[in-house]
Amino acid sequence: MFRPILKDLKAIWVLDSRSNPTVEVFAYVQRKEDIFVDSFIVPSGASTGEFEALELRDNEKDFHGKGVNKAIKNVSFILDHLYNNYVDNIFEVDKKLIELDGSSNKSNLGANAILGVSVAIAKAVAKSYDIPFFKYLSFWTNSYEYYLPIPMMNIINGGVHADNDLDFQEFMIVPLGFEDFSNAIKASSEVYNSLKKILKDNNLSVSVGDEGGFAPKIDSPFKACEFIIAAIEKSGYKVGKDFYISLDVAASSFFKDNKYIYLKNPITHKELINVYEKLISSYPIFSIEDPFDENDWESWKEFTNKYKDKILIVGDDIFVTNIERIEKGINNNVANAVLIKLNQIGTLSETIKAISLANKNGYKTIISHRSGETEDNTISHLATNNSYFIKTGAPARSERNSKYNELLRIYNFYNLNYYATSYKSNYLITS
Ligand code: PGA
Ligand code: ZN
Repeated sequence: MFRPILKDLKAIWVLDSRSNPTVEVFAYVQRKEDIFVDSFIVPSGASTGEFEALELRDNEKDFHGKGVNKAIKNVSFILDHLYNNYVDNIFEVDKKLIELDGSSNKSNLGANAILGVSVAIAKAVAKSYDIPFFKYLSFWTNSYEYYLPIPMMNIINGGVHADNDLDFQEFMIVPLGFEDFSNAIKASSEVYNSLKKILKDNNLSVSVGDEGGFAPKIDSPFKACEFIIAAIEKSGYKVGKDFYISLDVAASSFFKDNKYIYLKNPITHKELINVYEKLISSYPIFSIEDPFDENDWESWKEFTNKYKDKILIVGDDIFVTNIERIEKGINNNVANAVLIKLNQIGTLSETIKAISLANKNGYKTIISHRSGETEDNTISHLATNNSYFIKTGAPARSERNSKYNELLRIYNFYNLNYYATSYKSNYLITS
């Protein structure tokens, strides 16, 4: 048995989609006589949860304080401790990284440095075995079932991702009514372009927000849904059959003094629930993410209790891909789905543990990009194994399409089934 050994780590900065620097780590592993290299580029959020692992920034003059030279230096420190080690067990590699950092939220070395190393090593090891990364992940998830994931595509941007007055951050289309992944992507692209035309016809801007969705100057979530419904119909698809709608409210971003600031007015959680109720009864809502603030557990409980059998209630900022927080959610009947972001927790193995914990307790998991992204497409691989949803923005702009395009490659070369068919027959309750 020839086990892969770490021979080098090289970290550099590259630019993300908001023109901020981010860390790319290259890992070099040796197996038999050969050296294998692969890399990972760490993404970066804007509506970050209070309890996320820390993204280390230099806070100096360069890049308006957002430089990542400290994180890059910390990768050299990590190399000093991992050089010539066996790196074929992601749990052992990540345990070492967590120990080297020594903090509870990866604030010493930085989650950007640690995650870069964790994922780059795993990808280089997969390469040394000559297996695609999505199949290599099976070693650690113990799931050998692969599907192309159901995308949630953010085609209208609001909240902190856009310059308009929409309080809710994301309005997504979910192409559930398609037999295969490539048709789902084709139809979604058609809906995106129909929406563009409809917005233009309404004299609204077709400039886009951080995740490639349009950012028209509107304020009402009902208006946003109406436009999306019109775009689905204009493209010749059926609302509530071919396409559903998902929302990411990102409510922590408009929670102030125990009230939610909705359409410029402070309202109670009960009044906000009324808004959700109206949306759910008016449109085919598939999921609502972060309907309440990350500390407002009571409202989450109340809403989950009422709607858990009807829609997916997705925890992002409240869970931050953190096992303890997901456990608290499970014990308190909060949400029924978990958004999964690698850099919220900071290692690949902790991410996989979070997915497994959620799955074991009947919570769906959705692999997610960040609003600050790059051409890196690793999350596409993660979304085909043990977690069959992906949230990675509009079907536009290369930092979003890099994920869809990688899935199209997997579709064409490995012929995986699209998860929508299986999901619909097992879970979807149509009213
Ligand atoms: P973020 O947004 O990457 O800015 O946190 C994505 C989300 O809230 O899901
Ligand atoms: Zn979110």
